This record gives sequence, structure tokens and C-alpha cells, in this order.
Amino acid sequence: MTIMLTGGTGYIGSHVAATLLSTGQPIVCFDNLANSDASVIDRLEAITGASVPLVVGDIRDGQALRQAMTDHAVTAVIHFAGLKAVGESVAEPMKYYNNNVGGTLSLVEAMADCGAKTLVFSSSATVYGQPQYLPLDEDHPTSATNPYGRTKLMIEEMLADIAAADPAWRIAILRYFNPVGAHDSGLIGENPNGIPNNLMPFITRVAAGRLAELSVFGADYDTPDGTGVRDYIHVLDLADGHVVALDAIGQAEPALSTWNLGTGQGYSVLDMVKAFERVNGVSIPYRIAPRRDGDVASCYASPERAARELGWTASRDLDAMCASSWRFEQTLAMRNSA
Ligand code: NAD
Ligand code: WQD
Repeated sequence: MTIMLTGGTGYIGSHVAATLLSTGQPIVCFDNLANSDASVIDRLEAITGASVPLVVGDIRDGQALRQAMTDHAVTAVIHFAGLKAVGESVAEPMKYYNNNVGGTLSLVEAMADCGAKTLVFSSSATVYGQPQYLPLDEDHPTSATNPYGRTKLMIEEMLADIAAADPAWRIAILRYFNPVGAHDSGLIGENPNGIPNNLMPFITRVAAGRLAELSVFGADYDTPDGTGVRDYIHVLDLADGHVVALDAIGQAEPALSTWNLGTGQGYSVLDMVKAFERVNGVSIPYRIAPRRDGDVASCYASPERAARELGWTASRDLDAMCASSWRFEQTLAMRNSA
């Protein structure tokens, strides 16, 4: 049983790859390298000692997908491949609908053709839109505030229709909160191109002196210190969540299940800055800047359903998230200077 990881060389996919390989699970990564680098495969091989097949291809290319699924005897897919920059999705919506929605349709068609009807999909807490209550459970109404979020919602709805039409499908929709942190080896982590949109990679680059200071987007929210509160989850806890979700859908009804992957604990931007400084002994210069369009004051999960149904809870704390993020940044700096 080989698991295909679309987007397997990306940030989250590479950590799930490391976790699966550590259990001896055969995988194949399928990625067009639009936002990643094939050298991730060398580092995955160094971490795990396993050989890691990579097919460089686009999920919109159904023939390439079918070929890879046949060549590698794929029985299940974890689908990370997608574009994820909210601002870019507002500027270039067609690119997002084409890649994310069109790409997922092409993927499920290829899976059906190959008789591989087990799918784990990377969704996002962004599908909850503006929170109407907290913590966010899976029954919270869904909506989208930008094209990126709308692609996630459209894909969720498409998958629900597919599961309803053919109960042979086993589908898990995983709604991630804010993944941060890196593998303990420091060899894989989050390394966005250009100036990071997300908080943690921005903080690590300020700590490394690659960026001068952090702009804290708003200090006048209705939160304990006025800055935005989020549910940061260690990427290795997220990876464990994929393994148990895949196992669970293989065993039980119904054809489609949806689980939040978060910790249930909210931290503010300033909590993150202070924790990063304390854990790593570095200084993060920051200034208070205007609010960022589209941001909400607070967003955190109810992880109860995943705890109850999957027996999964996040175990790594904020210190581990900050330490591993910094280790990855330092390892990257050493690699770049070598
Ligand atoms: P990432 O950009 O690091 O990884 C995505 C990978 O998909 C990249 O390696 C990219 O090259 C590949 N890809 C993109 N389009 C492709 C295509 N058409 N064909 C083949 N490969 C393609 O992003 P990530 O942070 O690892 O996110 C993985 C998934 O999780 C995405 O679907 C994202 O929307 C979702 N997600 C991410 C976050 C987050 O904060 N990182 C939060 C919620 C959900
Ligand atoms: C976290 C907090 C910012 C950067 C985004 C997407 C969401 C999901 C995860 C994929 C907020 C503040 C940030 C900075 C700051 N992705 N911040 N200065 O906005 O919760 O979610 O990534 O599905 O869809 O919208 O995460 O890391 O961008 O921001 O003050 O330079 O940090 O205002 O309060 P967010 P984030």
C-alpha cells in the first residue's frame, strides 16, 4: 500500500512524509515544485534513511497522475498540493480556482480511474470565516472572505458530493489551524519565497537579521493584549493527525469525515514574540502597525472531535514550536553559506 503525497515536497507535506516514512510506510511524492525544491527529497532521505520517490508533475495533468499511481501502486492520497497565499488569491483568483479547484477535480478523477478512493484533504480553519463563537467546532457555519478560502470551501463541497454519490470513497477533510515549527533535525521546515506572509517565518527572519523588524498588525483588538490571537499547532503534531485520520477512514463509516487539527489554545502575536525571544535567547524588534485587511481578532479550535474520534491531541508546546522554527532557520543559514 503506497500513499501518494501531492505537494509532498512542501512545508506540511514534507513533515507528513517524514512521519510516514518513520513508520515504514511506502510513499511517493507528486509535486510540480511551484513552491518547493527537489532538494527536500535528499533531506528527507537523510532524516529517514529511506528512499523517497518523487514524481515531478502537476495535479492538473491527469495522465501524469494516472501513470504515477499505476507505477507506484498507489492506494491512498494525501492531498496537500495547492496555492495558499491569501493576498495573491485576491489579485489572481483565476490562478487559484484553476490550480486548487481544477487540480483537485483532476486528482479525484485520476483516483477514481485507478480505483484508489481513499483521500485525506488539507483544508483550513479559513473555511469558518469570521468566527461567530469560539472555540470553533466542526459544526460552526462555513463561509469565505477571500478566493483562497473559497477554493477550500468549494473543494470540501465537491468532496461531499463525491462521497454521497459513491460510498466506496473514504475521505478525511482536515481543517488545519496555524501550523508552525519544524522537524527536530532542522533539515526541513517552512521556507517561503520572498517576504513571508505568515507570522512565524517572519519572526525567524527578523531573528536571523534577514528582516529588520516585525510589524505587529493591530494592537487594538478585543483580546487580552490587543494583538491577534491564533491557534498555533506544531507541524509534527499535525503530521501525526494525518496518520491517525488515514487509519480511521480506512476502518469506519461514514464515507466522509471532517476534523479540526488545532490545539484549542490561543496565543497572541506578542505571546509568540516573547516566547520566541525567551526560548531562543534572541531579540525580535517589532513595531505596532495598522490592522491587516481581513484579519479576525481571535481564532482557535475546539479539537474535541479529533480527540474523541481519532484519539489524537496535539502534544508539543509553544516552546517546541519556537525552538524548532529557529533551529530550521539556523540550519538553512548554514546550508546557504556552505
Ligand atoms: P506549500 O506551498 O509549502 O506546499 C504546497 C506544495 O504543493 C508545494 O510543494 C507546491 O510546489 C505544490 N503544488 C502547488 N500546486 C501544485 C500543482 N498544481 N501540482 C503539483 N504540486 C503543486 O504549502 P503548505 O503550507 O505545505 O500547505 C499544504 C496544504 O495545506 C495546502 O493545500 C494549504 O492550502 C493547506 N493549508 C496550509 C496552511 C498553512 O498555514 N501552511 C494552513 C491551512 C491549510
Ligand atoms: C497570524 C497572526 C496576524 C504577520 C493565514 C491564512 C489562513 C491559513 C493560515 C492557510 C495574525 C499577525 C502576521 C506579520 C503580524 N493558511 N501577523 N505580523 O492570518 O491566522 O492565517 O495562515 O489556510 O488561511 O489566512 O496567519 O501567520 O498570517 O497571522 O502581526 O508580519 O499574526 O495579524 O494576528 P493567519 P498569519
